[in-house]
Amino acid sequence: MTEESAHDRPTPGTAMTDGGEQSNGLRSSSELCSDGGEGVVRRDRFSGGPARSFLSSLSADRRIFEADLEVDRAHVLMLAEQGIIEDDIAGRILTALDAIEVDNHDSLPDGEDVHEAIETAVIERVGDDGGKMHTARSRNDEVATCIRYRLREDVLSAVETTLALREALVAVAEANTETIMPGYTHLQPAQPITVAHWACSYEGAVRRDTARLLEAYARINESPLGGAAFAGTTFDIDRERVAELLGFDGVVENSMDASSSRDFLLETTQALSTHATTVSGLAEDVIIFANRGFVDLADDYSSTSSIMPQKKNPDTLELVRAVAGDAAGSVQGLTTTLKGLPRAYNRDLQRATTHAWETVDAVCKASEVAAGAIATAEWDEEALAAEAGAGFSTATGVADLLAANGLPFRTAHELVAIAAERGGDYDAVDAAARDVLGDPLDSVVDPAAVEAALDPVESVASRDSQGGPAPEAVAPQLESARGALSDDEGTLEEASDALETAREALRAEVNGYV
Ligand code: ARG
Repeated sequence: MTEESAHDRPTPGTAMTDGGEQSNGLRSSSELCSDGGEGVVRRDRFSGGPARSFLSSLSADRRIFEADLEVDRAHVLMLAEQGIIEDDIAGRILTALDAIEVDNHDSLPDGEDVHEAIETAVIERVGDDGGKMHTARSRNDEVATCIRYRLREDVLSAVETTLALREALVAVAEANTETIMPGYTHLQPAQPITVAHWACSYEGAVRRDTARLLEAYARINESPLGGAAFAGTTFDIDRERVAELLGFDGVVENSMDASSSRDFLLETTQALSTHATTVSGLAEDVIIFANRGFVDLADDYSSTSSIMPQKKNPDTLELVRAVAGDAAGSVQGLTTTLKGLPRAYNRDLQRATTHAWETVDAVCKASEVAAGAIATAEWDEEALAAEAGAGFSTATGVADLLAANGLPFRTAHELVAIAAERGGDYDAVDAAARDVLGDPLDSVVDPAAVEAALDPVESVASRDSQGGPAPEAVAPQLESARGALSDDEGTLEEASDALETAREALRAEVNGYV
């Protein structure tokens, strides 16, 4: 000890041990920053080995890079406002975060994930005080917040995509209220309808897909930050303030729920999968209609064969159809990952997130392509009209007519079924009437009414019950489709504006410090 000069001597209470630790069990701050550029000690100790890349989500986290910076900013502002960290340190950290954003994700130091890498980058710029950023939180509540923050934008994009598809369907319907076409059950001609009626049937389904996404959005839009690892914190934090700064509607109250639940991912992926399923049916219909010469897809949405020069294939719609399978697979993968996970955070959750990202990207693209294909396809009115009455598709209308003239519907059904086997024209119905009733057809019903019922155009016009295919019945459907579309556009705009307003307000608060 005689050699030791006074300034080399550890100050009382912080005696260095040979493990480089202070007597209080903490590494010295100089050591935290001078570990050969490898980052903070925690990383050296726990995840530097062969499993490092297996553990790391850094490249997948590119998607939440901006979200993480915003979450960091809101958290740091709140810590300063609450007096948990000093204003000048908050300012230095916020300045560092801006610089890190400019340098972007590619320049981040190595890290187990984006949260750790950004923290390391902050400490590199600010020094040890940068480590104050992670006061009163954990990566567990941090990552949950980042996912929700980013997913909000993605779900709003998905909502927008469904609105565009609805717009395309309504436009097709409006242009084709009188375009007669065959309607099918079991892929067999069943009853004539119009292209408008067919398009409105999908508009209604996509409208519900929009509603499901908006419902999921409301549950995504709550802040888990402040849940910390899962058990809250000793610091006097203001969770509502952080939620407000990030544009969330409120907080996920229970801290363990906040950090460990991912039902919002499942709900969103399910809603997307449902939409993909709706769109797959639409794609399949158009593929069949194109095959039958009812509709001609634009070249932009078709493909050809590398060997068969005459081919024009509906490849885009086949891929749209396939995306529904991928989305269903993601729901399955996500459910299986989440099933039986104990409280609280488990690293399995890292792999849950990617299912949602993949699904939202693929489904948005598929829906967008379907909308484009629908908007640009040309309907062949003549081919549709020629097939509208095929397979005696007016039979139900003839049976309805007989029933309206006093026959029990079951008797009328039997009579018309016999007529169907005999060709389904007026003479066939008359012959069946003589067999079944013992009387000619004109003793039951006006022959002109039967001729009208046998005509596909008249048949459609007569099915004017609420929601039916008659042009007068489709008109209110179109009106409600337009109304719902503009309501949902309003909701989307409001939600997007709220996010934008929160972003600007957060920026203004940050500017008060940097
Ligand atoms: N990267 C992780 C994820 O995506 C967050 C890290 C939390 N890690 C932990 N060991 N508690 O879920």
